[in-house]
Amino acid sequence: MPAFHVSVPDAILPFLPTPTIPGPAMSTSAEPPAIEARGLERVYNVKPAPVTALAGIDLDVAPGEFFGILGPNGAGKTTLIKILTTLLLPTAGTARIFGFDVAHDVKKIRRIMNMVAGGEQSGYGILTAREQLWMFSQFYGLPRKDGWRRVDELIEAVGLTEQALQRVSTLSTGQRQKMNFARGLLNDPWIFFLDEPTLGLDVAAARSVRELIVAWKAAVPGRTVTLTTHYMAEADELCDRIAIVDHGRILAIGTPAELKHRVQRESIFRIELDRLHGGTATLDRIPGVVSAAPAAAEGGPVDRQTVAVNLVLETDAILGSVVAALSARGSNILALRKSEPSLEDVFVELVGRGFDDTDDDGQNDDRSPPARRDDDADGPAAAGDRADAETEAEYA
Ligand SMILES: Nc1ncnc2c1ncn2[C@@H]1O[C@H](COP(=O)(O)OP(=O)(O)OP(=O)(O)O)[C@@H](O)[C@H]1O
Ligand SMILES: [Mg+2]
Repeated sequence: MPAFHVSVPDAILPFLPTPTIPGPAMSTSAEPPAIEARGLERVYNVKPAPVTALAGIDLDVAPGEFFGILGPNGAGKTTLIKILTTLLLPTAGTARIFGFDVAHDVKKIRRIMNMVAGGEQSGYGILTAREQLWMFSQFYGLPRKDGWRRVDELIEAVGLTEQALQRVSTLSTGQRQKMNFARGLLNDPWIFFLDEPTLGLDVAAARSVRELIVAWKAAVPGRTVTLTTHYMAEADELCDRIAIVDHGRILAIGTPAELKHRVQRESIFRIELDRLHGGTATLDRIPGVVSAAPAAAEGGPVDRQTVAVNLVLETDAILGSVVAALSARGSNILALRKSEPSLEDVFVELVGRGFDDTDDDGQNDDRSPPARRDDDADGPAAAGDRADAETEAEYA
């Protein structure tokens, strides 16, 4: 079970601005995919040796999907998002956002997408939150009056009314992230890319950010979200589908339930008994029982009157033999629960290491929000331009 539940607070919905451009669901023609990537590769030409961040990504995300990208540090998630948000060109392959090519339709894509990253430090600390948002509204090309209206609507929607006139440099991490969200929604994107949006937030702030995302998405059909996160429960709760990536490749893709099903080859039960004569070894001998081991107590002090056992069976059907054997030995079953694998189990099985492990030194963790460069034309962007912009932090 996910560790939390996201509900959409009704109070937020009326405050979310109405779309200013026809959204994907309002179009009459056949929908292009929100994301369509084919053979995406990205190599960073750095010393002492080039780094292959993406090694061939094929991806289709439908309009209206909440799509998650999971993977260990250095897997290529941010690189993929930077390519999809036109901040970086691929070394090979193609990607389209609602039918627009990331290499050629830069301006069009920037009109219909936005991105917010965890720990984002964009803008100027000396401005107030309201001034900063207005500045971005002008970067995004909103008319002056509409800009102020939209800024004020969004300030209210994200719950920053009290901090609106406070300098950005004095905002707490959570307040700053809410401001970043307001910034990301200024241009009313069809597709919203979120790169670890709850990074470093406390429980309450992370929850309100998740609620904001869900509320924003629910307000207009067809709005699409792509999220990277290291929080399994967050991905499990929010995402319709998830891709697990490592070393620049997609290892698995599917709904959270499909992914979990992949790793559950055996049936796992926790069983609580009033007594077990002969110990778990008596269960181990039953054909079809893979293993039977004493289970750790769950919360609270150990109840010495009961015996808890973790059972791994070849199939659910073996449970009948186990129950019969227990009954023959005079054991009464007090509780029985089937264990479902978690997304983390899937991750560990596919990637081979947990989320705490890392093979990245964190040196390349620049997180630049998009859509702040005022491209004059939609023509093919210079590859070097965007690659350089990334290292020179042109967007900061
Ligand atoms: N600007 C850069 N220059 C050189 N190498 C880079 C650059 N950005 C990323 N890389 C390398 O590309 C690989 C993928 O990095 P990326 O930031 O896409 O991973 P990630 O999945 O987002 O990781 P994390 O979970 O740590 O954010 C890593 O090996 C990283 O060191
Ligand atoms: Mg990253």
